Amino acid sequence: MDEINANPYLAHMHSKNSTVSNGANAAFSKLVPSKTTAEQQESAEDSNYNGLTGNLYSDRYKAILKKRRELPVNKQRQKFLDLVHSNQFVVLVGETGSGKTTQIPQYMLLDLLPHTEGKMIACTQPRRVAAMSVAQRVSEELDVKLGQEVGYSIRFEDCTSSKTMLKYCTDGMLLREAMSDNLLSRYSAIILDEAHERTLNTDILMSLVKSIAAKRSDIKIVVMSATLDSEKFQKYFYDAPLLTVPGRTFPVEVYYTPEPERDYLEAAIKTALQIHATEPEGDILVFLTGEEEIEEACKLLRARGDELIRRAGCGPLHIVPLYSTLPPSMQQKIFDKAPEPLTKGGKPGRKIVVSTNIAETSLTIDGIVYVIDPGFSKQKVYNPRVRVESLLVSPISRAAAQQRAGRAGRTRPGKCFRLYTEKSFNNDLIEQTYPEILRSNLGSIVLQLKKLGVNDLVHLDLMDPCAPEVLMRALELLHYLGALDDDANLTPIGHMISEFPIDPQLAKMIISSADYGCTNEVLSVAAMLSVPNVFLRPREAQRAADLAKADFAHMDGDHMTLLNVYHAYKGSSKPDQWCWDNFLQYRSLKSADNIREQLRRVATRCELPLVSNDFTSPDYYPNIRRALTAGYFMQVAHLERNGQYLTVKDNQIVLLHPSSVLERKPEWVVYNEFVLTKRHYIRTVTEVRPEWLLEIAPHYYDLPSFPPCEGRRILEKIALRMMATQELKAKKAKKDKKRKSD
Ligand code: CDP
Ligand code: MG
Repeated sequence: MDEINANPYLAHMHSKNSTVSNGANAAFSKLVPSKTTAEQQESAEDSNYNGLTGNLYSDRYKAILKKRRELPVNKQRQKFLDLVHSNQFVVLVGETGSGKTTQIPQYMLLDLLPHTEGKMIACTQPRRVAAMSVAQRVSEELDVKLGQEVGYSIRFEDCTSSKTMLKYCTDGMLLREAMSDNLLSRYSAIILDEAHERTLNTDILMSLVKSIAAKRSDIKIVVMSATLDSEKFQKYFYDAPLLTVPGRTFPVEVYYTPEPERDYLEAAIKTALQIHATEPEGDILVFLTGEEEIEEACKLLRARGDELIRRAGCGPLHIVPLYSTLPPSMQQKIFDKAPEPLTKGGKPGRKIVVSTNIAETSLTIDGIVYVIDPGFSKQKVYNPRVRVESLLVSPISRAAAQQRAGRAGRTRPGKCFRLYTEKSFNNDLIEQTYPEILRSNLGSIVLQLKKLGVNDLVHLDLMDPCAPEVLMRALELLHYLGALDDDANLTPIGHMISEFPIDPQLAKMIISSADYGCTNEVLSVAAMLSVPNVFLRPREAQRAADLAKADFAHMDGDHMTLLNVYHAYKGSSKPDQWCWDNFLQYRSLKSADNIREQLRRVATRCELPLVSNDFTSPDYYPNIRRALTAGYFMQVAHLERNGQYLTVKDNQIVLLHPSSVLERKPEWVVYNEFVLTKRHYIRTVTEVRPEWLLEIAPHYYDLPSFPPCEGRRILEKIALRMMATQELKAKKAKKDKKRKSD
């Protein structure tokens, strides 16, 4: 006991937590915060008692521990601790799968024992899936329950508790936290993971932790990545020391197609089945770009795979999709083992994982021997001229292609099949993907920075400065929304908008709905806009699905249709069955319901009244559409006489997305999304009245600044008419007043 009490932190912990047994304290008794050695840490891990919970370690813990010890980062533990002890910033680069994400935060945990001071360690991830999945894994590694000592926090989902001492979170969530806790004072260390991805939020966070570290000498910052221009990172963090973890990878043979592939989806499926039929044992990883494509590929693989098994006697297949909107239980399936042979001594089974680029560096799947890389991923692109941000299927970079290939060499030598030519690899792919900050709409981030008190955005210490035009557009958007005043300071509305964890326009729509007496409905619409598509349209039942959707269709447009769906969902007695019967995605609706509740809480915090108009009132729907207009007046299109829609002010030709319920082509519409493909589509569209545009957003609908076009001429006429009516009204009011006083 003496030894324990000699350590003030542990004495403190002991007094706070009476369930911790002596054995447990002994487990951590050698650990002096910020002075631990690798040996001491290992011996704490080898103890029989879990120092975090006081429980005896399970057998499973011991089995996993054995594996953890073999990870390349473990060999560098002492070096890492030495660096952290003598530096505030450390940059760590290591091959995917070397144990950075799962192990380094644990080393920090044992070194800092943050909970003894009521603090935590945060490890950020650019992707939600990675945050969830890694937190799950690490909770198993530490033999604790997920959400207790180890948890995760992603937008709309907080899986932490008062006990949490290690938190995996998306970079966006940490940024949001900084808005209310400017110094991130709850954290004793911040680990920025996957820094090479250079997401917008990571870039901003890097700048933020830099300024926080200047004010807090007690905080430690670790920047980690798979491949990265380490010198650039070191330099940015005041010449921080670099720790390189040598990889443990096997050679990967790379094959190219002799000719460009027309249909990469088809080519990917063919290649996968060919591998299954002809190559030795080993799992396959296929990179595709998004949910729809992946589900389609899985379906085809299952069907054609079955045939292959029947006709050619191949081994069984286990086909697993992986993308961000998949529920966590389904995501875990990527770690399943390949299926056993159908008969004893029969051909071996194989697992095929079909994934977005989540599997590129964020998640490591052991056992992959074959990688199929069509060379594409969905990437954010932003065109500030026309203010359009889109996710576009684009060619990946050479660096990404190399990462993908590397996934095949995790457990033994592997093969990577690139579905493009070698010439294309050398000449067409760019070296590195551009940082996201150069290709994003900055509206939301600028607002958050303003809230953080960062006013001088131009001189913000960023690794790569944002483009002036993009920054201008962001300030302009916020100004039009009324979030910033003429001096670019946050207005009360701006403060409110920043409280909502959603796009500024969507937040403005909710806030404005209070003026129109329809917050209840608009919260539902906002929630429905925040989840993945709710309408299912399976290839084999398209007609039935369309008929089911038609039942919900509202003549005013898609937003109202979403509202109908939500109301019907809430009224159903067996929601899962009901969704199935109506070709609706149950998961999305459940999530919408949850998000609505969270948005409602924010609205209450902002003191917005929770109200509805009388359903029989003629203004019931128009008022919801007015609120919509108050948020999205910058996303309006006008139907020209030639039958084409032109976006207002930017004059882009757009088509109504085929998924829209609006067949009759109303003259004025507001849209939620601009979809860039070979053609330009507007998706989720609702009819609005032109007068509303002039009434609700006169500062934006400053017609003389518009390029000459039909829409402008019509609006000008309406403006004149409105002015005349107003004058008449004013005259009449004056007369009435005079008459009364006479
Ligand atoms: O971050 P880095 O890519 O360096 O590696 P990691 O994510 O920490 O993974 C280290 C090891 O843990 C790998 O061998 C993974 O396969 C394994 N792991 C696992 O078995 N199950 C998980 N859910 C996550 C990781
Ligand atoms: Mg990692």
